[in-house]
Formats: sequence, C-alpha cells, structure tokens
Amino acid sequence: MLELIESLEKTGLSELSAVSTPDALEAWRLSYLAGSGKLKAAMAGFKDVPREQKPAVGARMNQVKAALEAAFEEKKAVISAGAAAHAERIDVTEPGFISSQSFGRAHIITRVIEELCEVFGRMGFAVAEGPELEDDEHNFIKLNIPAGHPARDPIDNFYVDSPLTNARPRMIRSQTSTVQIRVMEAAVKEGGGRLARPIKIVSPGRVYRPDTVDATHSFMFHQIEGLYLDRNVSMVDLKTTLLQFARAYFGEDAEVRLRPSFFPFTEPSAELDMKIRLRPDQPARWIELGGCGMVDPAVLELCGIDPEEWGGFAFGFGIERIAMGRYGIPDIRLLFENDLRFLRQV
Ligand code: DAH
Repeated sequence: MLELIESLEKTGLSELSAVSTPDALEAWRLSYLAGSGKLKAAMAGFKDVPREQKPAVGARMNQVKAALEAAFEEKKAVISAGAAAHAERIDVTEPGFISSQSFGRAHIITRVIEELCEVFGRMGFAVAEGPELEDDEHNFIKLNIPAGHPARDPIDNFYVDSPLTNARPRMIRSQTSTVQIRVMEAAVKEGGGRLARPIKIVSPGRVYRPDTVDATHSFMFHQIEGLYLDRNVSMVDLKTTLLQFARAYFGEDAEVRLRPSFFPFTEPSAELDMKIRLRPDQPARWIELGGCGMVDPAVLELCGIDPEEWGGFAFGFGIERIAMGRYGIPDIRLLFENDLRFLRQV
C-alpha cells in the first residue's frame, strides 16, 4: 500500500510537470484528483491495510494528497498567468488601421481670433479680456456716451435691467470698447490713482445687438478692440498700425482706406474699409471693417488719466467681417449655422 502511494506521488508529479495547457491540466486533474481518479482508487485499499500500519499509511496518504493538490494549484496559477500574458501581448510594429472617425478642430471664428491676436502680438499688443455682462458705466458713460444719447436706446441694446427704472442698468455688451475702460481703470488702480505706464492691448470677444439678421449682420458677433496709450502717439501711428496689420493678415496687396467718421469716444474718428471680393463671380468691393480714432480726452479724464500726459488711439473691428474677407465667406450666417459641410471647408 505504501509503495502504491509513493509511486502515485512520483508519477503524478512528473506527469504534472509535463503539463503546459489548460486542457492537459484538466485531463491530469481527472486522472489523479477527481472522484474517479487514482488517488481515490488508492484510498479505497486503505480498509485492507493491517490495523497497526494504519496510522503511518494514513498519514502518508494525506501527505501525498496534499502534495498533489498543492502542485495542481501551483500549475493552474502558472498556466492562467501565461494565458493572460499571452492575451496582452501586442505587436507594436503592426500598422494601425485608419478609421473613418474624423477629428474635430477649432471653429473658424476661434481660429481667426487666434490669428489676429498673433499678428497684433507681433506688433506689441497684449491680449485683454472683459465680461460680456456689463453695466452702462462701461458700455456707455465712460466711453463719453452720456444719458439721453441715442446709442443707448433700448431698441438697439440688450438690457438686462430696465434702463427706465435703474440708475445703473446692466446689459450684455454692445461693443468690446468696454474693455478699453476696464483696462484703463485697472492700470490707474495699479499706479495708485494715476497712469504710470503705457497701455497696448487688443481684446477679442462677443458683442450683442438686436440687429435683423442678413448676409452681413447678426444679433451676436465678435469684435476685436485695440487700445494704445503712450506719450506722443499720433494719427500716423494709427494709420501705420492698421496698414501693417492689413498687410500682415491679408497679404501685401491688401487695399485699405480710412474714411472720416464719428464716435463719441474718439476725436478725430475714422472708419476702416477694406477691398474684399466675397464671391468669385463678383468684383471686389469696399467693406467696412470697423471704427478707429484718437482716444477722446474726455474718455481719458473719465478714467482718471491726464490727457496732457497721455494720449493714443483705439480701434474696434468686426471679426466676422475680417474672417469673411480672409477666407472668402459670402454670408455671415454660414458662420453660425454650424453646417458641417461648410465647417469642413474652412
Ligand atoms: N465700438 C465701435 C462700434 O462697435 C467701434 C469702434 C470705433 C471702436 C472707434 C473703437 C474706436 O475703439 O476707436 O461700432
């Protein structure tokens, strides 16, 4: 009986050591450990073992059973670890397959804003931002547009508070010129109540006006505002800056012109037009990009800046108009309808 058990252990362990697949392991388990297996069969002979040998044979039998079971568990762990490692093996040199998935990208307006900030950045303008929810102090009063001015008419603005019952009604801004005021206020605060350094910023952002939508108008659009304050800034600097901008952004043959105009916050004021061909079948025509001028001394005073010491120019252009000119987009509505067939083209 003892010999039978010993040989069972020997052959069992040696056969198990040759096992390398889950199927072979299962066959081994059935052969040795299962109810119909060799171990059970050997144990059946225990009843015939002489009584005095029973404790020793019994102990040895338990040892062999434990040894075979432990060896089985160990092998099982090795084989399943191997299978997992195999499953995870990836050939990194395999070429990937090109999926039909398309990649997103920034909207054309966002890209134009980035390009404009880059071009003005090269001319020394930092980028400033301001809130879209404004008050009439920044949208009007400090821009020299006092109470009663026609530009404040509720027909032409999106007021949040009624301008009839509120002294300081809030509104969603109708122009990015609000940021000029905020930047000047912040610089004066920084200087302890006076302006102590030049200001040179551009500020892109959304503006809102209850305009009727057509090919060149929308109730929401984007502007880029510019402000340059220093000692001895002249109209020539304004003209040069705008010409340089036009050539850098639209190309050396860009045609621009300044037309005398009026804005409450600049004196003198001008409008910047650019010759743009919006449709290939139509001749290029003059399109108004926005306004500009020398900052009115009244605005500087309202912001706590001494107009005897500081002066400069400002401008505010429509970004959609610039995008339309730069990329030949004939209708502003295309920019907001988000038709993928259009967005993929530009
Ligand atoms: N804020 C003006 C508008 O929306 C545009 C403008 C004109 C901005 C002259 C300026 C400027 O900074 O100097 O129509």
